[in-house]
Amino acid sequence: MKAVLSKVAGGPESLVIEDLPDPVPGKGQVRIRVSACALNYPDTLIIQDLYQFKPERPFAPGGEVAGLVDAVGEGVDDFRIGDRVIGWCWWGGLVQSLVIDADRCIAVPDAMPLDDAAALLLTYGTAHYALRQRAGLKAGDTVLVLGAAGGVGLAAVELAHAWGARVIAAASSQEKVGYARSHGADDGVVYPTGRLDKEAAKAFSDALKDKLGKRGADVVLDAVGGDYAEPALRAIAWEGRYLVVGFPAGIPKLPLNLILLKGCQVIGVFWGEWVMRNRKDFNESVADLLALYAKGLIKPRISQRFPMERAGEALRMLSDRKALGKILVTME
Ligand SMILES: NC(=O)c1ccc[n+]([C@@H]2O[C@H](COP(=O)([O-])OP(=O)(O)OC[C@H]3O[C@@H](n4cnc5c(N)ncnc54)[C@H](OP(=O)(O)O)[C@@H]3O)[C@@H](O)[C@H]2O)c1
Repeated sequence: MKAVLSKVAGGPESLVIEDLPDPVPGKGQVRIRVSACALNYPDTLIIQDLYQFKPERPFAPGGEVAGLVDAVGEGVDDFRIGDRVIGWCWWGGLVQSLVIDADRCIAVPDAMPLDDAAALLLTYGTAHYALRQRAGLKAGDTVLVLGAAGGVGLAAVELAHAWGARVIAAASSQEKVGYARSHGADDGVVYPTGRLDKEAAKAFSDALKDKLGKRGADVVLDAVGGDYAEPALRAIAWEGRYLVVGFPAGIPKLPLNLILLKGCQVIGVFWGEWVMRNRKDFNESVADLLALYAKGLIKPRISQRFPMERAGEALRMLSDRKALGKILVTME
């Protein structure tokens, strides 16, 4: 089988494709013939040793896949050869054949194409946990989503819209805001791509307040960070919830006086840790996502597909802020 490997720390160009022997599933494991692997921003970090997990090299990046089970290890009762599954592996997914613990697999409903299955879990799972579990989002709330055309951002837009919230999308181009609006955002604000000086930060905050209305955002989902965080916090409602999800634009510092003045909560979202600690809640969240998908209320927005030979190019699009929605690498 072929694998896309990180053998030295570096950017997407450092990845190499190599032939490896087909892995054999051990006790409690299955082997997936991978159809597609969906990319996420952490894949761009993990290959540079900039992520919280630092796997031993060589390793394949890629945190979520879908495909067919083609071998089953001892003691696995839940899956059989031929089953269609999602596998969430955190890394290791950019391979044609993946051995994974059976309890990291989810059965894919018949009506869901494998491409959608590959691109569902990490972004919608994170957004679902953030908005529902951490922020207690309810119908009628106003939600501000930063980076609203990115993977987690767009999933948050769709979920918040499906749950009856009013959604304001913020992103770095008109095209991105338009993309978010075509998938459920009610309105949007374009922010600059570079650093924001004091004036630009105030202009961004004013533009947000203008769109959000007098009350401000009940919930802010921030999967971007950097200079965008403080202007967004300034636009939060009294007793609002600010969800800290990710930092592609840098790790910001927030003035505590603002948090006091807004009576708001700044809430850390670490989906991966929550999944490992709360399996029952995670299973319920997945069941809810599959039900929303079946009703047509959410659907992974796959804007581009790349063959595995071009996986580096695909990852480069995420690093260069050029991706819309989800990017998929096809492995067959
Ligand atoms: N906390 C958790 O549990 C959790 C789970 C999953 C992911 N995450 C994190 O959430 C963030 C988003 O992940 P994702 O997979 O949705 O990523 P993505 O699809 O690449 O979206 C990230 C968005 O960030 C914005 N951005 C701002 N500055 C950027 C920069 N310098 N480089 C790249 N993008 C930049 C881009 O939107 P604009 O151009 O519109 O600004 C982009 O659409 C990442 O930091 C990831 O690590 C956290």
